[in-house]
Amino acid sequence: MAQETHLRPLRLVVVISGNGSNLQTIIDASQSDLAVEISAVISNRPQAYGLQRAENANITTHTLDHTKFSSREAFDTELKQIIDGHAPDLIVLAGFMRVLSNAFVHEYPGQILNIHPSLLPKYRGLNTHAKAIAAKDKYHGASVHFVTETLDGGPVIVQARVPILNDDNEESLAKRVQEQEHKIYIEALRWLSEGRLHWHDDALILDDQPLLQPIVINSEEANEAKIV
Ligand code: GAR
Repeated sequence: MAQETHLRPLRLVVVISGNGSNLQTIIDASQSDLAVEISAVISNRPQAYGLQRAENANITTHTLDHTKFSSREAFDTELKQIIDGHAPDLIVLAGFMRVLSNAFVHEYPGQILNIHPSLLPKYRGLNTHAKAIAAKDKYHGASVHFVTETLDGGPVIVQARVPILNDDNEESLAKRVQEQEHKIYIEALRWLSEGRLHWHDDALILDDQPLLQPIVINSEEANEAKIV
């Protein structure tokens, strides 16, 4: 899908599990200058605040409580049915805290985008902020990537790099990383919606050039320089 120039807004289904701050920035951008249309928001957690955010913006919501399903495959089959009912161009995972089955991922080659709170390939999985602090890293951050069968292992498009401060704890670091997440997720969606970014034959192409390494945005500079 992502191989063509979109003359109409890119249709998104956004899948969440919680607060939905990334969802909110996509909603806000879609009401401003980002050429995307959110067809639906799906949450696997009934209490996710992101559902409220979607309702406030008059976006269709679906709750698919994973605790009611006997297996990952059964959940994913139902998830697929709901998603296909909206025929999106892109499935946007925004704080969706479940692993998708290989069968599900196979159905949507190059059509699932995720944001992960680390400088991938570092710290796949959970508790990334704590891991970066414990390792005494100088920098932490977030990555936007296409989803493949390998957990948090698909090609990375753009990363935000955030310094770890001496007095940082998990919460303070997570807050600063999230501020940057909101920027890089919108940028990746902008490139896709403008037909500038493609992923085919296992290669990422941005503005007709192979993207051999992720674009890295340094948070120190991000407030001064507008991202391309
Ligand atoms: C975000 O920090 C996102 O990077 C992370 O969950 C948070 C959701 O926040 N995602 C993952 O950890 C996925 N493995 P939000 O609900 O406020 O957007």
